[in-house]
Amino acid sequence: MVTILNQSKKETFGTTQRKDLWWLEPLVYAIGLGLFLLYATWAAFQGKNYEFGPYLSPFYSPLLIFDWWHFSPAFLILWIPAGFRATCYYYRKAYYRSYFMDPPACAVSEGCSGEKYTGETTFPFIFQNIHRYFLLGATVLLFFLWSDVIKAFNFNGQFGVGVGTVVLFANTFLLTMYSLSCHSFRHLIGGCMDSFKCGYQFKIYEKISCANEHHMFWAWTSLFMVGFADFYIRMCSMGVWTDIRLL
Ligand code: FES
Repeated sequence: MVTILNQSKKETFGTTQRKDLWWLEPLVYAIGLGLFLLYATWAAFQGKNYEFGPYLSPFYSPLLIFDWWHFSPAFLILWIPAGFRATCYYYRKAYYRSYFMDPPACAVSEGCSGEKYTGETTFPFIFQNIHRYFLLGATVLLFFLWSDVIKAFNFNGQFGVGVGTVVLFANTFLLTMYSLSCHSFRHLIGGCMDSFKCGYQFKIYEKISCANEHHMFWAWTSLFMVGFADFYIRMCSMGVWTDIRLL
């Protein structure tokens, strides 16, 4: 009887029985993602101040300079991590809630019956399935980023460690963890199998599953750090900040 009554009542946007601050999480995500998008777009358009000493901004790595390309070199690279993040299973949940309000949160109505809901099986959301291919692209970029970390220890032929070295190392570590904890990567390692051929393979799958449980953590920390790494190098390059040598 209760079910029949609830179904007959027309739900409006935000209808819920939740008493907690359910709107806080989507609001924080909307602000966080929005700020990052604004900064990353601005930094990509600059096309300068992306290098300082042995450091290279991750937004510009690998640095591709061609005579025929008259725009910022960042645009030749950024479509890969941007596509990887935009199609990420976790970010999909975050921005569907924060920007599309569809639904705004668990057990909170988006104000329609959902009769036309087709999930991600039709255009344009079916293209979210391209995520597994962006994973491959992002993995290739990680090799360049780790090579940038190695170069960040080389100060005019001398071994050294600056704050920038630590920033680049932290950034690449977090990006690596973000990729290793990816749902598509977990599927690739063992999620697609019914049984494992050896215990060693199962152990790797267990470790990946463990990282996968914290995918949201790696997603946000790596997002913040990649933005900060670009900002740090930009500030040093513009002479606003001084890179302190630790070793
Ligand atoms: S699911 Fe988030 S990076 Fe793949």
